Amino acid sequence: MHTLNVALGHRSYPIHIGAGLLGRSDLLLPHIHGRQVLVVSNETVAPLYLDALIGALSGYHVATCILPDGESFKDLQHLDRIFTCLLEQRFNRDCTLIALGGGVVGDMTGFAAAAYQRGVDFIQVPTTLLAQVDSSVGGKTGVNHALGKNMIGVFKQPNVVLIDTDVLTTLPARELKAGLAEVIKYGLIRDLPFLAWLEQNIPGLLAGDASLLAEAIRQSCENKAAVVAADELEKSDLRALLNLGHTFGHAIETGMGYGAWLHGEAVATGMLMAADLSMRLGWLSADDVLRVRTLLVRAGLPVDPPQMAVEEFLQHMSVDKKVKEGRLRLVLLQALGHAVVSEAPPELLCATLSAGSALGVLK
Ligand SMILES: NC(=O)c1ccc[n+]([C@@H]2O[C@H](COP(=O)([O-])OP(=O)(O)OC[C@H]3O[C@@H](n4cnc5c(N)ncnc54)[C@H](O)[C@@H]3O)[C@@H](O)[C@H]2O)c1
Repeated sequence: MHTLNVALGHRSYPIHIGAGLLGRSDLLLPHIHGRQVLVVSNETVAPLYLDALIGALSGYHVATCILPDGESFKDLQHLDRIFTCLLEQRFNRDCTLIALGGGVVGDMTGFAAAAYQRGVDFIQVPTTLLAQVDSSVGGKTGVNHALGKNMIGVFKQPNVVLIDTDVLTTLPARELKAGLAEVIKYGLIRDLPFLAWLEQNIPGLLAGDASLLAEAIRQSCENKAAVVAADELEKSDLRALLNLGHTFGHAIETGMGYGAWLHGEAVATGMLMAADLSMRLGWLSADDVLRVRTLLVRAGLPVDPPQMAVEEFLQHMSVDKKVKEGRLRLVLLQALGHAVVSEAPPELLCATLSAGSALGVLK
């Protein structure tokens, strides 16, 4: 087992990564302060892993809240179900919420924990690769709005993140690939040696090699923890760098309807769009963009944007959280392994948005 630390002063917390951690009460119980525990999961994950988790909570008053599965249910209406469960059980302020699931369950549970009686404890037990390498660490929580992805939410750090790598054996291949998009992101924004390691090991990762996956998770979480420790609340642009590909990606997710493209798939295409725009700005070479494209394709990820009008892209992108004083700011690459937040000339942005399958090709 590896243990990392997210260094946030008195709110610091451990990330435990290893096989067979789901039933480890010695890792969970030190972070539960009252007797009441609500496990939030969904109808796909609960039948697989709820019993193992509850087995680690004997002696506690454990209730469960099982949500429908899918990004399209990550909204205020379904968030309310968690509050209903808490109130029906008469849970008080020293209760603990545990998120058992992917990023959807984690984002919703964290938001509910932040809001219930003005804030109760919460624990992340992520079960997708994407949630293990990204969404369970760092405290961003929230739900979608019909007019914008992740637009309603708060920062709320968990007490501990328990990453059991065994649960990845039941994850559908498409979801594993979507998680790899966020893994590749760390290499692109700040860790060139990790990018090279991924290029070498992508076949093993896709094949589900447990030790390679554990190593990818460890390196990803190390990168994420370092960024979060330096800029927890995204006050500077540092934490925003984790959003490489997300402004384009969120536009794809919102435009296509939540759930049509997986979040990681939209981020993958979005990262190639960011690389393309970085090339148009003269920062990346065509070879660099090809290197990004090749790795994404080898990871089984989509790289061609959907057919969406430039105006529609721009409309969805205009509600991005990085917009300042009405001006769109994007995460771009000054070099592979070095991301920056920058504005881009509208004509270059439009060229990227209309490039379609010719991303990376200067016309
Ligand atoms: N908070 C953050 O910092 C942050 C960062 C990145 C992404 N996100 C959010 O995370 C969400 C995407 O997360 P996701 O990719 O985990 O999607 P998800 O939560 O929808 O999970 C993907 C699918 O896998 C299933 N699943 C989960 N674990 C499984 C397992 N072990 N075996 C079999 N099936 C399993 C789920 O039921 C679901 O059908 C998006 O809403 C995105 O906005 C948040």
